[in-house]
Amino acid sequence: MKYQAPKGVKEYLPPASAQFERVREALLAPARLANYQLMELAIFEETEVFTRGVGESTDVVSKEMYTFTDRADRSLTLRPEGTAGVMRAVIESGMDRGQLPVKVFYVGPFFRAERPQAGRYRQFYQVGIEAIGSDDPLIDVEVISVAVQGFAALGLTGFTLVINSLGDGESRIAYRQALSEFLHTLSLDEVTKERARLNPLRILDDKRPEIISLLAKAPNILDYLNEQSKQDFIKVQKGLDALGIPYEINPRLVRGLDYYTKTTFEFIHPQLGAQSGIGGGGRYDGLMESLGGQPLSGVGFGIGMDRVLLACEAEGIEISAEVPLSCFIIPLGKEWELEAFEIGAKLRSAGLRIDFAFGDRSLKAAMKAADKSGAQFSFVLGERESQTGDVELKELATGAVQSVRLTDLAAVLAGAVIRTKGN
Ligand code: HAM
Repeated sequence: MKYQAPKGVKEYLPPASAQFERVREALLAPARLANYQLMELAIFEETEVFTRGVGESTDVVSKEMYTFTDRADRSLTLRPEGTAGVMRAVIESGMDRGQLPVKVFYVGPFFRAERPQAGRYRQFYQVGIEAIGSDDPLIDVEVISVAVQGFAALGLTGFTLVINSLGDGESRIAYRQALSEFLHTLSLDEVTKERARLNPLRILDDKRPEIISLLAKAPNILDYLNEQSKQDFIKVQKGLDALGIPYEINPRLVRGLDYYTKTTFEFIHPQLGAQSGIGGGGRYDGLMESLGGQPLSGVGFGIGMDRVLLACEAEGIEISAEVPLSCFIIPLGKEWELEAFEIGAKLRSAGLRIDFAFGDRSLKAAMKAADKSGAQFSFVLGERESQTGDVELKELATGAVQSVRLTDLAAVLAGAVIRTKGN
């Protein structure tokens, strides 16, 4: 019996996992600099957190949730997204009664029972940030800029930022009404009609070409924004302009989750084909209240790490490990293994990435392992090296050898690493 990971589950194993780590760190660093703090959250929640939070009319809730009952017959769901869970945790912990805005980030696996294909998985990974409790449109800009900085750190350039405003509650009611009236004039199939009844905005998100063409004359949401929503949207645009972040406005961008209000945005990478959304987010001013909390507003994003990796690949960006393997140490026989091991431990304490020839291998086999390890250098430690205090440090790519005092080793290796990074 050969076991396999469940269908559609994306896993990252070495060496590709080093790139995954780099993407995660590149996306998280700007969030930390903007003072967002880690939230390590439940991977499964009471199902209602998502049905109420994300909305019954969404594909995510109606078709894609992994829902199960536990041994006490409670309905639980593997998290398909992060925002509803953050909100549940903020309300539960009372953070909403402390200093506002609450600014948090999260990273980890999410689960949607979608048909797997390139860039679309059943277990995928998101980095997300949420800022809760501020109505200032500049915080929308901050959220967008954190994502942009993360992409820039990776060297990504081929994406477009698309923005829209869905307006506040009042504007949305007016638009919903106009859109419903328009949808009534169309001949839609029963399933689509039912979705339109639950939430007419969902129809704008329909990707079927026949629906897209039917919607050509649909009312434009931006014409229904009330004064406050209009001013807020203008402030978002001014903020983006001030930071030099280019964007396009698309009044059809409603996003696939029901909680959005006012600003919505998406990062599209056209080179990824059908799954081109590398990240998206927006405001969700009614979400906390709908989950039983106080009426605090919020804004955030979720970036699909899997798709960001694919985007880097599509742009030919090479992502290497943050700290390259500096040295592979080979003890010359069992008598020297402890001393060599101890030297390795000291070098690691000095911040160097070190590996070691474990097991009683022949020198030839150990040398081969050193070559395969991808290390920059290796050296052998035996009686002569131990007694003289000098090792022959070999640069594996060139075969060049230099004699280095054991006491200088950390400094020499560190210098070599810095030189390589600067190249
Ligand atoms: P979302 O647009 O559903 O938003 O997902 C965010 C990102 O996750 C997408 O842009 C995409 O890159 C990635 N993603 C989604 N589904 C999959 C999948 N099946 N396979 C691979 N990647 C996927 C949210 O989840 C919101 N919680 C974002 C947010 C935060 N809005 C406000 N705050």
